[in-house]
Amino acid sequence: MAKRPRIAVVGSANIDLTTFTDKFPKPGETIFGQKFDLGFGGKGANQAVAARLCGADVFMVARVGSDLFGPATIENFRKLGIDATHVKQAQGVSSGVAPIFVDPGGQNRILVVKGANDTLGLKDVDAAADILKSADCIVLQFEIPLETVYYTVAFAHKHGIRCIVNPAPAQSIDIKQLSNLDYFVPNESEAETITGLPASTVDQAKQCAQQFLSSGIKRVIITLGANGSLIAGRDQSDHVPAFEVSSIDSTGAGDAFIGSFAVFLGEGLPEKEAVRRANLYAGLSTTSVGTQKSFYSREKFDAEWATRSRE
Ligand code: RIB
Repeated sequence: MAKRPRIAVVGSANIDLTTFTDKFPKPGETIFGQKFDLGFGGKGANQAVAARLCGADVFMVARVGSDLFGPATIENFRKLGIDATHVKQAQGVSSGVAPIFVDPGGQNRILVVKGANDTLGLKDVDAAADILKSADCIVLQFEIPLETVYYTVAFAHKHGIRCIVNPAPAQSIDIKQLSNLDYFVPNESEAETITGLPASTVDQAKQCAQQFLSSGIKRVIITLGANGSLIAGRDQSDHVPAFEVSSIDSTGAGDAFIGSFAVFLGEGLPEKEAVRRANLYAGLSTTSVGTQKSFYSREKFDAEWATRSRE
C-alpha cells in the first residue's frame, strides 16, 4: 500500500463565478450568456482539494474574507476532510473572487480579485509552522503576496521539506528568491510571461526551462495543455504526452495537475510516472464543468488509469 503523503498548501481561496458564453460584450454593450456556475475555487484551494481527493492528508493555510463566502469556504474545506485550522477570516476585506468566462471550446478567461488572499502574511506562515514542519511537501501559487511565497520557500528549504511553486497568475518575480526550490511548475503562458520567451512548442518550452534552471531551481515542469508536460532538469529533459479527452471546461486543470502530482510523487512514484498520472488527472478534470467539482476521486481516477495507462 502506497504511503499517504502529508501536503500543506499555503495559498489562495476564491469563489468562482463562471459564465459560459459564445460571445464577449463590446464596451457599453449588454449581451446574453448561456449558463452560469458558482463554485469554490482559487488556485491554492483547488490544489488542496485535488491532493485531498487523490488521498493525501491536506493542510490549508489561507485567508478568507469577512463576508458570506468566508465561512462557506472554511466549511467546504472541512467537509472535504482538509485541515482548515490555519484558514482565518480577515476583517473588513472581501473574500477572493474570480469572474470566469468559458467559450464553447472550453477555453477560459479568468479575472481574479484577490481580496483576503492579499492579507496572507509572514505571521500566518509562522503561526502554522508546526503543521508545515510535519508536511512532506509544501505547495504555493502566486495569488497571495510574493513576499509570503518567498518566505515559505525559504522555510521549506530550511526544514528539508519538498516545495512546489506554481507561478500562477504569472507576474514579474525575483527568481533568486526561488533558487532553493524543488519544483517550479508554470503552464506555457506563465513560462512565456516570466521569461519573455515563447513556450508553445516542446523545444521552446525547453529553452524557457533552461532559463529557470539557471537560477538554481532544481526541477521545472512546464504544462502544455493538450501537448502534455515537459520535465526539465539541468542535464536532461523529457516530454510526457497528454491523454486524449473531450474537454468542455479547462478551468482548474493546472491545479488538478499540481495537486495530484504532489500526491503521486509523495507516494514514492518516479517523477515521470507521477507526471503521466497527473497529466491524466488534469485531462479528466476538463471533461466536466467547474473547478473543484470537476476533480476525480481517487477511486474514479484509479479505474480510469487502469484502462488508459497503456495508451
Ligand atoms: O486555476 C483556476 C482558478 O484560478 C480558479 O478557481 C480561480 O479562482 C482562479 O484562482
